[in-house]
Amino acid sequence: MSRLPNLFVLALGITTLLLGVAYGVATRYQMAAERQVMLQQVAAVRPQFDEAKSIDEVPTTTNLADAEDIGSENRIATDRDAKASVPAPNSLRRLGIGRPALPAEIAAWDVDIMPDGHGLPEGRGDVETGEAIFSDYCASCHGDFAEGVDNWPVLAGGFDTLAEDNPIKTIGSYWPHLSTVWDYIQRSMPFGSAQTLDEDQVYAIVAYLLYSNDLVDESFALSHENFADILMPNVAGFVVDDRAETEYALWRKKPCMQNCKESVNITMRASDLDVTPEPIRLETSTTHSDGEVSDKDIVKNGQKVFKKCQTCHQVGAQAKHRVGPHLNKIFGRVIGGLEDFRYSQVFDVAAKEGQIWDEESMAAFLLEPRTYFQGTKMAFSGLRTADEIAGVIAYLKTYSD
Ligand code: HEC
Ligand code: HEC
Repeated sequence: MSRLPNLFVLALGITTLLLGVAYGVATRYQMAAERQVMLQQVAAVRPQFDEAKSIDEVPTTTNLADAEDIGSENRIATDRDAKASVPAPNSLRRLGIGRPALPAEIAAWDVDIMPDGHGLPEGRGDVETGEAIFSDYCASCHGDFAEGVDNWPVLAGGFDTLAEDNPIKTIGSYWPHLSTVWDYIQRSMPFGSAQTLDEDQVYAIVAYLLYSNDLVDESFALSHENFADILMPNVAGFVVDDRAETEYALWRKKPCMQNCKESVNITMRASDLDVTPEPIRLETSTTHSDGEVSDKDIVKNGQKVFKKCQTCHQVGAQAKHRVGPHLNKIFGRVIGGLEDFRYSQVFDVAAKEGQIWDEESMAAFLLEPRTYFQGTKMAFSGLRTADEIAGVIAYLKTYSD
């Protein structure tokens, strides 16, 4: 009896999965076209925002449908045959909520770099500079030569392995466009400290990565001017599978934009629904009903919390340096004080000044590592609660005697 519902759930699961994959593939191709239309719409309405002196003055009649004609070639959400006098579909009409994004806000989001170099800021960086930055900010995970430490991604080599059973897909062997490398690093690396690099630093790192992949020589400098000249080895390796018998064709049908609802009714607001979570507060709460917490419990809790640190730190008799230094006898130790570990500059400075780890500095550091030591290469956003911090401190103390 119970097999039937199980099978049903399984089938449902598989269908959902397949639909998800198909949707993902289809949206990828739609996105480029949509982006084009959006850019044209933005360009069309932008002058009105620029002229308005404050948000209140942004003309309320601004209607994206006015901008629609410009993108008529690429129009996606409207009926191609509709005459200009036909009112814009609801999806483009103002709903009386929110406000138009300001040019500066759009600019802050509009940071992507296209394969032809469109979107690149001006800047320049050479291999040598890149090597130094890479060794400070990236090598702890990706290796000095971009060869990858432990399981962290390999960024160099792997040429001629793509057809093998275990291809080594690096930015050199696999990525079709250099723009993705620039964009990815600028957006998301160093892991945990995203967007802390300036433009010249990113150019320098990308130059160094080209060098690590034997694509340029050591005197090379990369800039916005020569960027588009760099062709990646695998540029011809990606093709759109547009065969009629694949699902691609299914997703290219004209969307139905007929018999749309006349009006939009807002039935509930997020603030009424009370869906916004309360901010997390720092307060100690592990008190037993009798108001006592045993030291043992705190240490035990700390051991659990330390799992978050274990990817990078070890403690105990066999402890070695991993991405971060071992933490034996950390209390009373000079900050950044281990000879055989390569610290960031801020840690080197602290060590020179002879600063010592105590409970207070540790608590402040673990709450907000990158505020307490600006420029630290510890890619960790911090612990959330006083309990967690007290726990980890108590746990580390058991390795400090
Ligand atoms: C704390 C470890 C760490 C540091 C430091 C770090 N990365 Fe990464 N990097 C990662 C991880 C993890 C991924 C994979 C992320 C993912 O797949 O979501 C990654 C992915 C990448 C990739 C994409 C690799 C691929 O083939 O998909 C590039 C390129 C990269 N990092 C460059 C850099 C650069 C440049 C720096 C220094 C500015 C840096 N990383 C610093 C951990 C790190
Ligand atoms: C993603 C890797 C990573 C994680 C996760 C991480 N750390 Fe670190 N940690 C580092 C690195 C790298 C350094 C060296 C910092 C520097 O040089 O800027 C460091 C430094 C430290 C130091 C200073 C050591 C010294 O010799 O002065 C302490 C203490 C520390 N981490 C504790 C922790 C604790 C506790 C956690 C977990 C709550 C944690 N870290 C999580 C990577 C990590």
